[in-house]
Amino acid sequence: MSPSVITVETKEDVSLSLVINQISSGISLQGRILVPGDKSISHRALMLGALAQGETKIQGLLLGEDPRSTASCFQAMGAKISPLNSEMVTVTGIGLGNLLEPIDILNAGNSGTTLRLMLGILASHPARFFTVTGDSSLRVRPMSRVVKPLQQMEAQIWGRKDNSLAPLAIQGKVLKPIHYHSPIASAQVKSCILLAGLMTDGKTTVTEPAISRDHSERMLRAFGADLEVDPDSKSVTVTGGKSLHGQNVIVPGDISSAAFWLVAGAIVPNSELVIENVGVNPTRTGVLEALEMMGADIELQNQREVAGEPVADLRVRTSKLKSCTISGDIIPRLIDEIPILAVAAVFAEGTTIIKDAEELRVKESDRIAVMAQQLTKMGAKVTELPDGMEITGGTPLTGSDVDSHTDHRIAMSLAIAALNAKGTTTVNRAEAASISYPDFTNTLQKIIVS
Ligand code: S3P
Repeated sequence: MSPSVITVETKEDVSLSLVINQISSGISLQGRILVPGDKSISHRALMLGALAQGETKIQGLLLGEDPRSTASCFQAMGAKISPLNSEMVTVTGIGLGNLLEPIDILNAGNSGTTLRLMLGILASHPARFFTVTGDSSLRVRPMSRVVKPLQQMEAQIWGRKDNSLAPLAIQGKVLKPIHYHSPIASAQVKSCILLAGLMTDGKTTVTEPAISRDHSERMLRAFGADLEVDPDSKSVTVTGGKSLHGQNVIVPGDISSAAFWLVAGAIVPNSELVIENVGVNPTRTGVLEALEMMGADIELQNQREVAGEPVADLRVRTSKLKSCTISGDIIPRLIDEIPILAVAAVFAEGTTIIKDAEELRVKESDRIAVMAQQLTKMGAKVTELPDGMEITGGTPLTGSDVDSHTDHRIAMSLAIAALNAKGTTTVNRAEAASISYPDFTNTLQKIIVS
């Protein structure tokens, strides 16, 4: 057997296990990588394309399960979407306010972004009735964060637990504009309200406690919406009634997917990776700042702007990491990268504190509890905090049997941790990676030099 082998085994029809054998002689990671298209931008391109007049051409769409859920929901409401591929997808929009009443339940699968953003669109489509649901993970995630402000706009939405859990039923109607002061910095909440505001006469404003990702704002503007952004008050206002027009969207690589390779390149000895064409929108680059605080050797090369989004190639080289504190306003700018940052902290000298991240408890899994449990199984010193984790680095990891809890980012984070663990790690239910990164295992296999 070669010093390091990655195998993918199928268990009981659907469940995949990723087995990583790391023998003491070690491996390094080398090469140039392209990561799949940004998930947040992919969803928005499909949705705005469906609501616009004319054709939207999307280059670089993420082919993961989540955007497929968005595409199938909007196809069921009359949008024409060509077969999904990463080269070029054409969406023939139906025009704002013209979605058809679907004759069956809309299924958002595992995707919180699909369900929450879509709720704003559906609630503001008068005289249509909609039912929406998702998979077992999505059906226990809180929807009241979007249902409540939509109800303030006079939306009619029903569901279990005081209308807070999917399946949800929506009677679309003409809504009333509001100024919503969101208690959480969430791009899903902000985008849901702005999308409802598109069809609502007057000015609909969302104010956030900290700035969350602004892909909706950028893309709504490009499609012709009447939008004002006030960064000082962290507010965005949409004036309803303006039609949207199909655009050419070029989706950059997802920094949330690049983050796995950034950490892998930093912790696996003698590695050097270049991740090409990664979106570096400042509302998403918290992970670069956190890794810089930890002493990672990351260089942004070839910085440019592509279709309204900043893009760069990211070069990472192995370095000695040190602990840091990740808290406060940076959290919404790296929220999806905390599982992989926890892995970086395991290999950093000192104690890393992650706090103000209670949102992690209501993601695709309870990412605080799951990461703490799974990394502890491998020998890491991790303490759960109500709103984060305390991780003391420097203890060598030992391969073990770990589980993704069907959460894509957990599956990939554990696979990266396994690269630096002695012995064999089996990541169970690793197929979850296909939600945002179907090619993850192939790329991992390609860059390993043993
Ligand atoms: C997303 C926003 C974030 C993020 C999610 C995608 C989006 O969620 O965690 O993966 O595309 O708007 P919240 O807005 O709930 O923080």
